Amino acid sequence: MCGIIACRTESPAIDYLLTALGRLEYRGYDSAGVAVQTVDGTVARLRTVDRIGALRAAVTAWAGGHFGNVGVGHTRWATHGSVSVVNAHPHTDCSGQISLVHNGIIENADDLRTALTASGHEFHSSVDSEVICHLIEDQLKISADLLEAVQASLLALDGSWALAVLEECSGRIVVAARRSPLLVAHTPVGQFAASDITAIAEWVDEFRVLEDGDVVELTDSGDSADGAAPALARCVWRSNDSELSGYVDYMAKEIDEQPAAAARLIDEVAGGIANGKLWADLGLAPFERLQVLACGTSLNAGHVIGNLVRRLGGLPASFIVASEAAGEIVEPHTLCLAISQSGETADVLAAVEHRTPAESVLALTNNSHSTLARRADAYLTCAAGPEIGVAATKTFVCQVIAGAALMISALVAVDRIAAADARTFVDDLRRLPDQLDAACVIAKYEVPRVTEELSSAAGFIFMGRGSGVPYAAEGALKLKELTYRWAEHYPAGELKHGPLALIGPGTPVVVVDNAEPRLAANVAEVTARGALVIRIGPAGSTIPVVTHPVAPWGPLESVIPMQILARSLGLALGWDVDKPRNLAKSVTVE
Ligand code: AGP
Repeated sequence: MCGIIACRTESPAIDYLLTALGRLEYRGYDSAGVAVQTVDGTVARLRTVDRIGALRAAVTAWAGGHFGNVGVGHTRWATHGSVSVVNAHPHTDCSGQISLVHNGIIENADDLRTALTASGHEFHSSVDSEVICHLIEDQLKISADLLEAVQASLLALDGSWALAVLEECSGRIVVAARRSPLLVAHTPVGQFAASDITAIAEWVDEFRVLEDGDVVELTDSGDSADGAAPALARCVWRSNDSELSGYVDYMAKEIDEQPAAAARLIDEVAGGIANGKLWADLGLAPFERLQVLACGTSLNAGHVIGNLVRRLGGLPASFIVASEAAGEIVEPHTLCLAISQSGETADVLAAVEHRTPAESVLALTNNSHSTLARRADAYLTCAAGPEIGVAATKTFVCQVIAGAALMISALVAVDRIAAADARTFVDDLRRLPDQLDAACVIAKYEVPRVTEELSSAAGFIFMGRGSGVPYAAEGALKLKELTYRWAEHYPAGELKHGPLALIGPGTPVVVVDNAEPRLAANVAEVTARGALVIRIGPAGSTIPVVTHPVAPWGPLESVIPMQILARSLGLALGWDVDKPRNLAKSVTVE
């Protein structure tokens, strides 16, 4: 969703702003803009409802004063107000002194707008963010100091914000955050603020994540804060981790990266599984039940992990769609496993905020500096590295592996699994990267053979049994995201209770075959009605990638052909597989 960049640099800021905005593209956006100070002291504001490439072209065509070394930029994913140039950030006040970029939602914007309009302010856009510009404009008449004016203005706001304010006359930049991520970094090439480390990883070794309520100025000596102690974090992602490296799209690259990402992660966690150390090191209280809290793909990974806890440990596991968490009844000794690759998903954060103190919250995330990691009692990284494609691929695989490893470790620690059995699972885990690699090779050969036949299908059914069901869910989700075709998943036994009516001659049915004995009868049911069955399973299947016997985390290999199928069909239909319509990578609104 929306992305922020602000900088004061040694050389023209526009180069940094455009590069950073390009790196933020993956979050999803529908408009973009920059405000840059020029050498004649004015601020150039350029905005577009097109791609960053269009913004770059507007910069090249700029005929005004040369760009200076201070600026702010933004990618917008519309929530309040339509997609239009006037609604694109940066926004400004009546005088044009203030250029502001904002992520978050100002809940009392309507009231503020009414009051500000009554006192003579003129609004240019219909977005909530613009009220902040006019509030700062008023405050500047009182104190004339940008930092103080921003601090005072924020007192009037309800809601969430990460924001950067550029003042034209002074070239000062003040940034602030409340319930929306913003990080600041002091580097040899200048000072930066960004909503996401990916934007600035190229120039940054260390950064600081703003705490709720922080208001700081970017200055030559770093960020001057209002008393907050700088807690530095090390940047472990490099910019070339986010390059295409010869691939035509990020999804293709990230699918291919899965075996290596899995191998890296397994190397990191394997030593702490059979001795219970991976769990013990988190310092959490023992639990008697697991509650998984997540959305989308992360919830599918959560189902795999929860099923494993049930089957191996005999502990109850429940699954909560984070946006529906309100009113859930939490029993004592529950561990809440909050899973989110971004760690910034608003639904998950809101649900975690309302947990009872009796419940421990463990975050499983791909971003150790995320709001979720900071709010949880403990966190475990799934260490997948940057994932740029909106459709989650390698983060899913790594969430399953990290979650399974951790839960086996926890079950050893509470004597629900014998260390010897856990060692067998570690051996299974160690074989996984090769199995994923083989699945990539087989799927790249087999999937194109079925893609053409499927491109005219209006809808798809995915089905599985037991440990195969969450993978069927993930396959259906990938297909929906990338092809814009209907795709539903069902436990295979459930079809005859209604969904079987959807099956007619040629209806594609993707079967995740984990060798569950009753599955054959369900395949026969759909075959008898003329379904086009694509069986992803052991040897002899349409796409034979599943190893036998199936591991406690189920047929993880099966996800690879389903990712490749969704991507191939999406491409065949002419869609952008990295940026599916209407979707964002980091879903920061509830
Ligand atoms: C996955 O392909 C989707 N883009 C989406 O379902 C995603 O998993 C969901 O929005 C949750 O995101 P998170 O993992 O960052 O919390």
